[in-house]
Amino acid sequence: MITGRARLAGVLGWPVGHSRSPLLHNYWLARYGIDGAYLPLPAAPADFAAAVRGLRAAGFAGANVTIPHKEAALALCDTVEESARRAGAVNTLVFSGAGIHGSNTDGYGFVANLAAHGVGAGGPALLLGAGGAARAIAAALLDAGAEVTVANRTLERAAALAEALPGLRVLDWEYRERAIADSALLVNTTSLGMAGQPVLGMDLGRAPASLAVADIVYAPAETALLAEARARGLKPVPGLGMLVHQAVPGFAAWFGVRPAVDDEVFAAVAAGA
Ligand code: ATR
Repeated sequence: MITGRARLAGVLGWPVGHSRSPLLHNYWLARYGIDGAYLPLPAAPADFAAAVRGLRAAGFAGANVTIPHKEAALALCDTVEESARRAGAVNTLVFSGAGIHGSNTDGYGFVANLAAHGVGAGGPALLLGAGGAARAIAAALLDAGAEVTVANRTLERAAALAEALPGLRVLDWEYRERAIADSALLVNTTSLGMAGQPVLGMDLGRAPASLAVADIVYAPAETALLAEARARGLKPVPGLGMLVHQAVPGFAAWFGVRPAVDDEVFAAVAAGA
């Protein structure tokens, strides 16, 4: 139910129609009987700052920020958490009388999803890709004490990431299959494997038996990479869990309830596929 006292939040993106966040947050709102709503908020890059200020002026509790606005959101905040500074991006805004507060819950969501699959974050990790998602995940894994190596098709982008995150190691893209032998965790943060994109061609033949393989791609639910991991008896960690877990802190801040992550949530979000 939405009354005159409803708490409001949403997701700012461009485009935003593909986002599963409205489905997820509105599922939780219904489940907890909260007087509130979570809306898709399409805002073009040129309008982003005005949109954020307008939402705050109109009484919104806050918003999620997705592609392509995450870096612009960082610049717009009055205060930011260390997670956002490390990630170089903000995905969660909380509005208050004091101003606009930003955090980045992507790394938290990734690590929480690993934990939900019984996978630790502290072992040697090989990350494929050097975009925004890679930076948030690398920061979270480094903070958890992991040795993190990043391999990216474009070496310069991996080097730039290592400059932003001291301690991060860079590996030539062509050595990625060899490096699996020394890894406890392999993470695909590239867009490869997404519906409509080429698959990530990655031979897991050198994988140690205990390797966990995480993919941040969640559509399809099981990418070719995860299917290969499963077929080899390795531990697959699907990407939808990261999306669900990263949403928890924002929901708690805006709506006052820390929401459960369980099978029913996944069923609700998967149903929107
Ligand atoms: P995001 O910020 O969401 O992580 P992004 O910045 O567009 O997205 O990054 C996409 C990642 O997928 C990059 O690491 C990109 O590699 P490049 O830096 O070389 O562009 C990677 N990627 C996309 N298509 C690829 C392909 N065909 N082969 C290898 N990597 C690819």
